[in-house]
Amino acid sequence: MDGTLPSKAMDKKDIQILAIESSCDETAAAVVKNGREVLSNVISSQIALHTLYGGVVPEIASRKHIEKINQVIEEALKEAGTTLQQIDAIAVTYGPGLVGALLVGVSAAKAISFATGIPLVGVHHIEGHISANFIENKQLEPPFVCLVVSGGHSHLVVVKDYGEYEIIGRTRDDAAGEAFDKVARAIGLGYPGGPKIDKLSKEGNPDAIHFPRAKVEDNLYDFSFSGLKSAVLNYLNSCEMKGETVNTADVAASFQKAVIDVLVEHSLHAVKEYGYHKFAIAGGVASNSSLREAFENECQKQGIEFFHPSPILCTDNAAMIGAAGYYEYLKGTRHGYDLNAVPNLKLGER
Ligand code: KG4
Ligand code: ZN
Repeated sequence: MDGTLPSKAMDKKDIQILAIESSCDETAAAVVKNGREVLSNVISSQIALHTLYGGVVPEIASRKHIEKINQVIEEALKEAGTTLQQIDAIAVTYGPGLVGALLVGVSAAKAISFATGIPLVGVHHIEGHISANFIENKQLEPPFVCLVVSGGHSHLVVVKDYGEYEIIGRTRDDAAGEAFDKVARAIGLGYPGGPKIDKLSKEGNPDAIHFPRAKVEDNLYDFSFSGLKSAVLNYLNSCEMKGETVNTADVAASFQKAVIDVLVEHSLHAVKEYGYHKFAIAGGVASNSSLREAFENECQKQGIEFFHPSPILCTDNAAMIGAAGYYEYLKGTRHGYDLNAVPNLKLGER
């Protein structure tokens, strides 16, 4: 023995995760080091294809995932300058999402795991969205409150610890992103509605039309967006009946403001009531520029620390699955080759 002790840095082995995401219309793979360092983040989007049909067509999504998955995984490894020999675990989204789409990622992950012996870690898609916040905010640690707003979900979540969640609010009907998509269709913007409403709103007056801000009587933190959607449709119908021309930019801006007002009010009320000082946003709708600005301003006023991922890490990607997968891996989560796609997987369920 030469008497030299290994340094702390040498003691700690880096953990590299290969992450795969295919729950909806993006085929994605990434390599993430120690949960917070993205070595590659490859996303093959099917948006252009689904735009033809005005929304995601599940069968087409599955078929496209099959065509792209191997290529996307190979690209992710290559861009990261790594090989499967250096990968410690394969993290894959196994729910919630479109069953056929999920199955493609899950099958690819299981096949690689089986062929190489690399451990398999199934990840909840929403846990991924929340964990996207860890990537660029190196100092962010639980506990904090997170608002998850995507095409399929609107959840207010207390992140108690890594992988430990309590859902304190949810939507009673449409998800926030779904409302954006439906209203966008009604004013002729097409799919995907969120980014188009975001852009058009900049030319409109958010106070031009007063749309309702729904409150859910028995839970202050729940959301409801279907009434708002109907109010927009009624407004458009009544304009048509009266022969009035519709200012679509004003409709987009006023609708967007109604959504944001409710999200901000409910979320920051929860942060205060639960006694936290940190708040994060996640999911596709979290890339909305006015929503980010509104939270930035309101959090600053109320002395709450505000965290958000870059827009590319808000919409579906595999880097967020790598971040979540890392903390699951550290906790000892391992899945067998019987791992299946679970389209309605609940947060916190194994
Ligand atoms: O998280 P995500 O990529 O997929 C799901 O897990 O659902 O979210 C997609 C949703 C779509 O409804 C899309 O219209 C919405 O996020 N979205 C936006 C914006 N970018 C995407 N909504 C509002 N403003 C945006 N800039
Ligand atoms: Zn998503």
